[in-house]
Amino acid sequence: MRLFSTLFSLTLAVSAVALPTTDHVVHERRTSTPSRWEKTARVNGTEQVLVRIGLAQSNLDHAYEYLMSVSDSVSPNYGKFWTSDEVISTFAPSDETVAAVESWLVNAGVAKSRLVHTKNQGWIVFESTATEAESLLRTKYYQYTDKLTGSKAIAAEEYRVPQTIQKHIDFVKPGVLLPIPSKDRSAKRTRKFKPTRQASANASSLSTCDEMITPACVAALYKIPHSSPNVSANNSLGIFEEGDYYSQEDLNLFFANFTPYIPQGTHPKPAFIDGAEAPVPVADAGAESDLDFQLAYPIIYPQTITLFQTDDYNYASGEIETDGFFNTFLDAVDGSYCTYCAYGECGDDPNLDPVYPDNSTGGYTGQLMCGVYKPTNVISVSYGGQESDLPAYYQQRQCNEFLKLGLQGTSILFASGDDGVAGPAGDDTANGCLGNGTIFSPAFPNRFSCPYVTNVGATKLYPNHTIADGESSVVDPVGHPYSVAYSSGGGFSNIYTIPDYQAAAVAEYFKNHNPPYPYYEGNASFGKNGGVYNRLGRGYPDVAANGDNIAEFWEGEFILDGGTSASTPIFSSVINRIIEKRIAAGKGPLGFLNPVLYRNAHALNDITNGSNPGCGTEGFYTAPGWDPVSGLGTPNFPKLLDVFMGLP
Ligand SMILES: *[C@@H]1O[C@H](CO)[C@@H](O)[C@H](O)[C@H]1NC(C)=O
Ligand SMILES: *[C@@H]1O[C@H](CO)[C@@H](O)[C@H](O)[C@H]1NC(C)=O
Ligand SMILES: *[C@@H]1O[C@H](CO)[C@@H](O)[C@H](O)[C@H]1NC(C)=O
Ligand SMILES: *[C@@H]1O[C@H](CO)[C@@H](O)[C@H](O)[C@H]1NC(C)=O
Ligand SMILES: *[C@@H]1O[C@H](CO)[C@@H](O)[C@H](O)[C@H]1NC(C)=O
Ligand SMILES: *[C@@H]1O[C@H](CO)[C@@H](O)[C@H](O)[C@H]1NC(C)=O
Ligand SMILES: *[C@@H]1O[C@H](CO)[C@@H](O)[C@H](O)[C@H]1NC(C)=O
Ligand SMILES: *[C@@H]1O[C@H](CO)[C@@H](O)[C@H](O)[C@H]1NC(C)=O
Ligand SMILES: *[C@@H]1O[C@H](CO)[C@@H](O)[C@H](O)[C@H]1NC(C)=O
Repeated sequence: MRLFSTLFSLTLAVSAVALPTTDHVVHERRTSTPSRWEKTARVNGTEQVLVRIGLAQSNLDHAYEYLMSVSDSVSPNYGKFWTSDEVISTFAPSDETVAAVESWLVNAGVAKSRLVHTKNQGWIVFESTATEAESLLRTKYYQYTDKLTGSKAIAAEEYRVPQTIQKHIDFVKPGVLLPIPSKDRSAKRTRKFKPTRQASANASSLSTCDEMITPACVAALYKIPHSSPNVSANNSLGIFEEGDYYSQEDLNLFFANFTPYIPQGTHPKPAFIDGAEAPVPVADAGAESDLDFQLAYPIIYPQTITLFQTDDYNYASGEIETDGFFNTFLDAVDGSYCTYCAYGECGDDPNLDPVYPDNSTGGYTGQLMCGVYKPTNVISVSYGGQESDLPAYYQQRQCNEFLKLGLQGTSILFASGDDGVAGPAGDDTANGCLGNGTIFSPAFPNRFSCPYVTNVGATKLYPNHTIADGESSVVDPVGHPYSVAYSSGGGFSNIYTIPDYQAAAVAEYFKNHNPPYPYYEGNASFGKNGGVYNRLGRGYPDVAANGDNIAEFWEGEFILDGGTSASTPIFSSVINRIIEKRIAAGKGPLGFLNPVLYRNAHALNDITNGSNPGCGTEGFYTAPGWDPVSGLGTPNFPKLLDVFMGLP
């Protein structure tokens, strides 16, 4: 039970005591049914069920250690990244695990020829009748109907496995979980408004950076020098997009107005996944994609951008509803994540993720793409969601995958969300908060707050302030200037405890700048004594960058846009440029950035003005050093370059 030990301690009753008559023990139990699901009837015993058994991976208890070994600068193995084969063989379930599970199934009457072992070695899958599966798992399957969408699912309230098998499996599907569909799977929330100033204002002037952030402002804020004309063929910047598409016309307009040195027609290299396509006509342009490229190109050009665009139009547009997120991308960059097998079944969740081939009109009719693209050195992701939208195991599995990508030398940066200490309005409660609406709601992947990614919060330059005055955290009330309130996502995880690399920084914050709110300690005491945040949780964001009043061309027009969506490609581009220098000096990429960043807080511009309101509070306050609003601060390119060039 290593993989989900933290998570399952909340829901999993492991009781050898309760069942004196059998060696079977309860492996998972659900005590309530999510309100949107209605239990209708027992599943007809003759119905076909695809049983999937998630095998316990080996060595996950050492995974953090392995990651720190290659990404903490004090380690002698710093920068000695693993090959993907090393990752697969290290974490693959042990032979003992595979043998034990197979022999349990075979002894229970499931012929060995029916068992399919998926490619990444993570699952054993077989087709069964409901009756056979019920007898195997000492359970009863029920049909559930989603009252909102009408979709159906099969689930049990609890199931059992032999005690000797328990340590070899993570979970069985169908199991106790009912999918919790998200309202907005990508949940990127860019905010835009029409500026009074025109794009034609002097693009190289720094006197209007308090009104609009241009490439010249970004370069000046973070002291980013002009890029060398010589760039490495192995350092394309990765940008993830889903259901939102760039328009070449918008990029061209932007280049013409702000960066004439970037030729018209410059566009990302396609790494299109499962039938995704881009660009789109200008009228259909996506504000997120346009923003990401218009921020990144000016920093990294002539380096290229690799666009990881996911999913065929039916899925990406929501025409066919799916709630999963990011798995098809992970499949495409890491074949070992993919578990395509003879049943067309895979590690993705067919209840949550797109299923390919997609036979609907216009769908992508190829097979799910597995391991077809090499991950880039840096991947920028301006998408997210709320943890409550997706099952725990689903996100935990992704979190481990981010760790594995870090082991292989990829730096992954995620936007921290745009709702301060809250979630988006309407998520969980009307104000986007938890409990009775007073408890802070960390965002996905932060709420499950995967500690193996770098989280990026947002800063801004206030009116009548110059670059020399410095930035503050974003606090934009409703109507000023966007139609919705916006502040930098930040807070403390309800799942992950404070990772070592961050412990001193977080302790310092609590010691010197204790937030004026009651707290609870560990999610087991969620909300206790009126607590509104988890004092023991992983803090986020890790870093920040500008994310307000960003100059952008979208749908052919000049707008100002904002969001941690903007901060993330800026920080990612800075890291890409640093790796460029390292490659030129015969060094390698950087992998997981946090251990080095937390050891070198001086290389970031500390943000000490502002907070991140939400849940009827002013949120947390920025402070000298790390804070749960702006992290360690914004990039200081020369200082970060010094730090990273000083490493092997
Ligand atoms: C179960 O399905 C079989 C085959 O479709 C059908 O003959 C049978 O009547 C069903 N049983 C129940 C209890 O609905
Ligand atoms: C634009 O601003 C820069 C820097 O302030 C200045 O050097 C340049 O002359 C200006 N260009 C025009 C056309 O005003
Ligand atoms: C770029 O690379 C070429 C060929 O390797 C070399 O001659 C030139 O000096 C380099 N230029 C810069 C600015 O590094
Ligand atoms: C890119 O990396 C590969 C190995 O990953 C290496 O064989 C190749 O020479 C590199 N190319 C350049 C231009 O550095
Ligand atoms: C999609 O088409 C393939 C091949 O034509 C077929 O095997 C498969 O069953 C179809 N899937 C669905 C969901 O109709
Ligand atoms: C900025 O300065 C101008 C000119 O001094 C003034 O008119 C304006 O009110 C100031 N804006 C803010 C937000 O302080
Ligand atoms: C934390 O505990 C609360 C109350 O028991 C529960 O509703 C919530 O799902 C838990 N959060 C997580 C992330 O497990
Ligand atoms: C929410 O719950 C907390 C503690 O249980 C309580 O102090 C607070 O008054 C409640 N707030 C509302 C708006 O009900
Ligand atoms: C600090 O933030 C406040 C808003 O909270 C803003 O009015 C003020 O201008 C900021 N100060 C600086 C120096 O940016």
